[in-house]
Amino acid sequence: MENSVIKAALLGLGTVGTGVYKVLKNQEEEMQAKIGSKVKITKILVRNLEKAAAKVDDASVLTNQWEDILNDPEISIVIELMGGIEPARTYILAALNAGKHVVSANKDLIAVYGKELLDAAEKNHVDFLFEAAVAGGIPIIRPLKQCLAGNHMTEVMGIVNGTTNFILTKMTQEGMEFKDALALATELGYAEADPTADIEGLDAGRKVAILASVAFNSRVVFDDVYIEGITKISAKDIRYAKEMGCDIKLLGAARQAEDGIEAYVCPMLIPSTHPLASVNDSYNAVFVHGDAVEDAMFFGRGAGELPTASAVVGDIFDIVRNILAGCCARIGCTCYKNTPVKKMEDTHNRYFVRLQVEDRCGVLAEMTAVFAKYHVSVAQIIQKETKTEGSAEVVVITAKVREGDFRTAMDELKSRASIQKISSLLRVYGK
Ligand code: NAP
Ligand code: HSE
Repeated sequence: MENSVIKAALLGLGTVGTGVYKVLKNQEEEMQAKIGSKVKITKILVRNLEKAAAKVDDASVLTNQWEDILNDPEISIVIELMGGIEPARTYILAALNAGKHVVSANKDLIAVYGKELLDAAEKNHVDFLFEAAVAGGIPIIRPLKQCLAGNHMTEVMGIVNGTTNFILTKMTQEGMEFKDALALATELGYAEADPTADIEGLDAGRKVAILASVAFNSRVVFDDVYIEGITKISAKDIRYAKEMGCDIKLLGAARQAEDGIEAYVCPMLIPSTHPLASVNDSYNAVFVHGDAVEDAMFFGRGAGELPTASAVVGDIFDIVRNILAGCCARIGCTCYKNTPVKKMEDTHNRYFVRLQVEDRCGVLAEMTAVFAKYHVSVAQIIQKETKTEGSAEVVVITAKVREGDFRTAMDELKSRASIQKISSLLRVYGK
């Protein structure tokens, strides 16, 4: 095979950018044989040239001028690893409009502007690939778009945030409270200096929007996803969940229901026998169900320098193969439907409620009468021997009920003098 070189540019040389630089270097010897060409990073956009110089073999590839890359006709692939909305969006659109292929790991951007970027790629007959944007090193976008294309997918559900999975694992295995587990995650470098996007479920919400769009062939954006984080979970909730045969995980879920798409992120009780319950520490996993394949699960590292770079380099190699075969833009936007996304109150779920009630006869009857009024059926109930004078703790798991009805029942319970406090309210995965 004739030696060929395809030139590429990196935008950003942080955690993932550095990882991509290293993985491409590790692949250098084999690339020609493996994909039919070498890939050479000829320019890297950074903000601080001096800081970046220590990370590369040849500092002459560094630039702080985007136009150096945009106007270089020899650069065929732009790899966006800066993150954030702007200037990433402007740069990606300009690159696509200039006929360059783009790879990005930017879930924040794709969860909001995915359609605009994919439309620009289609118009210019170039590739826009983003495998690393969901669950880092775990292949899931390409499997959904290609290997599983012969299915009608009905469910995509995952643990798609490593920081929160690490925190919940520590709370489960070591009985830690949330704030202590978060402090440990920060100390060990799992949690960012500002952990809000992780612990409030926003990072997972962006991934769910992308996953749902790809799985159900219909655009779901970040604003469509209902989101709750893990900050209110206590070690006590986890102990009760265990007693009821469940673990608590931050799940990102998307479901194709008859009347629309359900898309949400929230901490949920999941049976300890479910494969996702055993995904611990900072690992991620995505569980899918299709009408032909039935169940399948993808497991691995959802973040980190080299695992994320692994997915980015896979996309780069795919584009190189497409360029060599003259078949770019073969698989672009796969959203050919326009399915509505359901409001959370119209979804049907089971609930776990932990509440403090007055310790006197007739209170449970009062509570179940309110439940009955709003079609909430009790599936399991636990009441421990009272330790606090005048107060009893009751934990209930309900049967499936419409969320709107359940919320109304909860509002009515809160207004009753016999109900002292609703301490926890979580959803339960399953039928
Ligand atoms: P990072 O470590 O913060 O790196 C971003 C780099 O981009 C920094 O070096 C930053 O420069 C540079 N940058 C930002 N704006 C720039 C601009 N306007 N011009 C030039 N350079 C600019 O972030 P990261 O963790 O590598 O993440 C990169 C992308 O991958 C994000 O979209 C992220 O969501 C996604 N991702 C990350 C992971 C992960 O494990 N980290 C996993 C999956 C997806 P300074 O150093 O000067 O700020
Ligand atoms: N902060 C994310 C996590 C990694 O904890 O999984 C980047 O998506």
